[in-house]
Amino acid sequence: MCGIIAYIGNKQALPILVKGLRRLEYRGYDSAGVAIAQDGKINRVRSVGRIDNLDEKLKDHTVEGTVGIAHTRWATHGGVTEENAHPHFGCDGKLVLVHNGIIENYRELKTNLGDTHEFKTQTDTEILAHLIEFHYEQQKIHNETPDVRLAVEHALAHVRGTYGLVVMHADHPDLLVAARLGSPLVVGIGEGEHYIASDATPMLAYTKKVIFLEDGEVAEISRDNMETYNLKDEAIEKHVEEIEWNETQAQKQGFDHFMLKEIFDQPTVFEDAIRGRYNLLEGTANLGGLNMSDDEMRSVNRVILIACGTASYAAMVGKYAFERLAGIPTEVDVASEFRYRDPIVDEHTLVFGVSQSGETADTLAALREAKRKGAFVRGIVNVVGSTIARETDGGTYIHAGPELAVASTKAYTNMVAIMVLYALQFGRLKRVSPATGQRLLKALREIPAKMHEILEQKDLIKEMALKYKDYKDFLFLGRGINFPVALEGSHKLKEISYIHSEAYPAGEMKHGVNALLASDFPVLAIMTKDQLYDKMRSNVEEIKARKAPILLIATKGDEGAKELTDDVLYVPDTMELLEPLLNTIPLQLFAYYIAVELGRDVDRPRNLAKSVTVE
Ligand code: G6P
Repeated sequence: MCGIIAYIGNKQALPILVKGLRRLEYRGYDSAGVAIAQDGKINRVRSVGRIDNLDEKLKDHTVEGTVGIAHTRWATHGGVTEENAHPHFGCDGKLVLVHNGIIENYRELKTNLGDTHEFKTQTDTEILAHLIEFHYEQQKIHNETPDVRLAVEHALAHVRGTYGLVVMHADHPDLLVAARLGSPLVVGIGEGEHYIASDATPMLAYTKKVIFLEDGEVAEISRDNMETYNLKDEAIEKHVEEIEWNETQAQKQGFDHFMLKEIFDQPTVFEDAIRGRYNLLEGTANLGGLNMSDDEMRSVNRVILIACGTASYAAMVGKYAFERLAGIPTEVDVASEFRYRDPIVDEHTLVFGVSQSGETADTLAALREAKRKGAFVRGIVNVVGSTIARETDGGTYIHAGPELAVASTKAYTNMVAIMVLYALQFGRLKRVSPATGQRLLKALREIPAKMHEILEQKDLIKEMALKYKDYKDFLFLGRGINFPVALEGSHKLKEISYIHSEAYPAGEMKHGVNALLASDFPVLAIMTKDQLYDKMRSNVEEIKARKAPILLIATKGDEGAKELTDDVLYVPDTMELLEPLLNTIPLQLFAYYIAVELGRDVDRPRNLAKSVTVE
């Protein structure tokens, strides 16, 4: 996720762009840049770090003009360097653009353009500037009047992936071209001026009148006019809307908290995580960043997943995936334990550090220890260029976008997605058949729609939260692959509502926890239709007999669940291995609504930090 702001009007663009970038910093903050067109030239200034750094650098430059584009980056492809920061040029320094999204086939597109174009960055975005420039030049070669919008449309016809982009051309200073597929863009309408941005925040100070671009739309925007087309170049009628949000609401896209927004981000960022990372035909994943030969992969006889907090619960799901698909014995170790335990690893051990921030001190120290002992050490990380990403010898970014709420939600689901893909990649080198791989990948692709189905039940989940909010203790139960889900659900509740809760594998109840069951001790049980369904059901029957209030997560269609309790939240059916990707979501929402109801500071719970860089 990155932030885009562009301006065309009669005021100086720079102050508007820089102010706009500050409003968008929540969308990405590793580097930023602006480009402004004037007198047939483009003036570009970029800087690594937050907007303050860019602002400081701009003091040494005169950047004047009334049309410009700007970007605050959250890296996905290519490290955090000034060269990789947007805006990006084509070859002749006249066409420049900013982009939010992921271009899946950027390597292929680069190869197709051949060596006539020189690339300067490691980003997936730069290809767009060159590709649009190429189509623009073709128009000239064919003696057509050069048309930036048409060049954009022709270029986008070859692109696979997602984009929100704004293009500016030095020879067309009265024009900006914006296009959207999968990444949001809003156009703000002022008097003789237009604003274009990733969300309405940066324009609210100037106008409340906006037009939302939809997927597959391309807009040609001048000072006084805006024309919108689809990718077949047919004109589209757009409606002007009046924005009622204030700035903070707009940053949260109308959600009350970042946590809620991030829970609702999950279907979209899940697609970002898996996009371009599997081959359906061969029924396998192709996570290139692993940097291991097939032989090295086959030599791995043990996997260790190291993580803290929510990442460690994601890793526990990963263990099931590695063991089931790849047949490799897998352990999950909490980083603070691993580093002091004199761990036994060797050159046949593959150690993954799983971390949203990529900065967690314990995880980092544990990985260093594993590296020292000769293991393969790789990262499964969200923040590009973070310390873990830099210090490991490869791995994969989970592409969840910036996660601002302290309690992790979307990073969890994307971590699970990536570990399932890794497990499949290893599995296909050994024992998994193409057909099994294909079945899994097809089921993975259905996950976002199923996540939506769960999110649509938010009102029902809220109702349950209101019913249960006053209990002082909770028990979360699961079995098999749903035990880590119970752990994560319990963890979420503790973190943000401060209610005491525990999670147990349901089969363990009889060895102790049964003694606690009573009418003031509610049990949230995950009873979806997996291989342990019957056993789980018996456990729930026992709990019912002991009069504890029961809230069930059950598979859609399981009407029998209603015989056990009135409080059932249904989730769509999926392959057992993928159940945590769905079953966790109602638990995130349940914790969220309880915390809100109890008046907690949901995004910043007491005593906790987003990134724990000290021991
Ligand atoms: C902190 C955060 C948690 C997070 C954990 C691990 O405790 O509050 O939300 O799960 O650190 O962080 P990491 O960035 O390594 O995933």
